[in-house]
Amino acid sequence: MTEKKAQPSDFDWNDLGFEYHDLPYRYRAYYKDGKWSAGGLETSSTLPIHEAATGLHYGQNIFEGLKAYRRKDGGVNLFRPDMNAARIQRSADRLLMAEFPQEQFVEALKEVVKANQDFVPPYGTGATLYLRPFQVGNGPVVGVHPADEYVFEVYATPVGAYYKGGLTPTAYVTNSYDRAAHGGTGQAKAGGNYAASMLPGKEAHEAGYSDVVYLDPRLHENIEELGSANFFGITKDGRFLTPKSPSILPSVTKYSLLAIAEEMGLQPEETTISINDLDQFAEAGAMGTAAVISPVGSITHNGKKHVFYSETEVGPWTQKLYDRLTAIQNGDQPGPEGWVVDVPLQ
Ligand SMILES: Cc1ncc(COP(=O)(O)O)c(C=O)c1O
Repeated sequence: MTEKKAQPSDFDWNDLGFEYHDLPYRYRAYYKDGKWSAGGLETSSTLPIHEAATGLHYGQNIFEGLKAYRRKDGGVNLFRPDMNAARIQRSADRLLMAEFPQEQFVEALKEVVKANQDFVPPYGTGATLYLRPFQVGNGPVVGVHPADEYVFEVYATPVGAYYKGGLTPTAYVTNSYDRAAHGGTGQAKAGGNYAASMLPGKEAHEAGYSDVVYLDPRLHENIEELGSANFFGITKDGRFLTPKSPSILPSVTKYSLLAIAEEMGLQPEETTISINDLDQFAEAGAMGTAAVISPVGSITHNGKKHVFYSETEVGPWTQKLYDRLTAIQNGDQPGPEGWVVDVPLQ
């Protein structure tokens, strides 16, 4: 198979979507005989996967998503990559996969960014280099048990600014599906959770909503996640609330915004949030790496629409939180110790 690699001149950095582009380099490491290989850069976008791999049959596949940000001085930042390194290990533990070492994970990210540095979009465009670490069970396994071999990879692809204009609120809807079971794999970033979310997402889009509000899988009463993002609501008395549940993905953006909310004088709290208690909120949003924050204009539950701050305008707290976090990621403002990691480019 011939692979046509992307060139930096192929891209209009101000008009990028969220799509795969075949960049020159990705990082791969292989687990065999109880240990990981040293790992290194490879050029082919095609993986060697055995036909009886657990990654193909039994869902032993986990992944991460984070971005590399171009700074004003031309350097490049990663944002809290240690959190992704720890999270993919927890995902591996839940799916009985070999853990990839955390230090090697961060080094792999740096190697991929450095090797593809001409594809990190310019400062000021809002575009970034998206990094996709993942790990799959490989080798021949027929019965339902964990693989003896794994492939770990990090690929990169340039992605556009999520908001081309300002932050725009969107509408969400509840439905009767679950993305993860109570006691299941919701806390892991496991491929199967995303397969389970495709049909509910499609039905929500077809009904005119931007995504689904998942409720807790046991009672269907408390808010869990918004599509593939965590939820926050800011109460009229200045509390920044986000759901606490064993079946949601612990979002790096969520933990960062909990800290920033506190810095701004809001009172942060992870707690149970009933879908019947939305009146307490002045503003609401969805949090994740892709958009940082998507303001939630409304949630429709059992046919009844609840509007938060506005269906067309972003609320003042949401805007402030977004501005502060993106300024830290871009290197425009210093953030808490250790959040921003410089990528050596030489
Ligand atoms: C299900 C789900 N929830 C939340 C998030 C947000 O997590 P993060 O802020 O780490 O991107 C993601 C994205 O990774 C996700 O897939």
